[in-house]
Amino acid sequence: MPPQMKLALLAIATAIAMAPGALFAASTSSPAALTKQECSACHLQYPSFLLPKRSWGAIMGDLSNHFGEDASLDDAARAKIEAYLKSTAADSNGQSPNWLRAIPASEIPLRISGLPWFQYQHGSRVKNWIKSHPEVGTISNCTACHRGAEKGYFDDE
Ligand code: HEC
Ligand code: HEC
Repeated sequence: MPPQMKLALLAIATAIAMAPGALFAASTSSPAALTKQECSACHLQYPSFLLPKRSWGAIMGDLSNHFGEDASLDDAARAKIEAYLKSTAADSNGQSPNWLRAIPASEIPLRISGLPWFQYQHGSRVKNWIKSHPEVGTISNCTACHRGAEKGYFDDE
């Protein structure tokens, strides 16, 4: 084998070894499947309809600095996931739900758990419960209390 070809093969092998999921997934998976794969590795897949497009843009634009973790993706996967999240966001159909209209357009919420309606729904009763149940971790661990959170169902209480 000519040395140049060897080098090229080595480069491909290294790339595949380093990012098997990303390389494959970005080109073959549906946007929904790719998002599920990449965005439920560390926590449940947060429902995209609970944040507006601008939030998903900001989150996907700063993945190397993601709530204290490095959640970086290659560019193709990142772009595909961002497009999917925006197309299913709270304001994806050009209209905003009431809770979103209450937030100034200049504000870019980065956490569902930081939204005013969320704070209202999860008052001191819920926060105290988490304190006495350390296995829950943080309020961001939606599935600890909402069994249907992964599918976007929350009215199970
Ligand atoms: C390497 C691990 C990791 C990956 C991968 C990851 N995240 Fe996260 N994410 C975190 C951590 C850690 C937090 C903070 C959780 C907490 O505060 O308890 C977080 C929090 C979040 C929150 C805020 C939750 C809240 O409190 O409302 C959103 C939204 C979010 N991630 C979206 C995503 C999306 C979209 C992806 C896929 C592109 C993703 N995450 C992939 C680690 C990760
Ligand atoms: C420690 C338990 C706990 C955690 C963790 C938690 N919730 Fe909740 N959530 C509740 C309770 C309890 C209520 C009902 C509040 C009430 O009616 O007084 C509620 C209400 C809600 C509602 C309103 C449901 C309705 O029928 O109006 C939504 C939506 C919701 N939570 C989403 C989330 C999301 C998203 C997360 C994660 C980011 C989360 N919750 C984390 C306990 C929790």
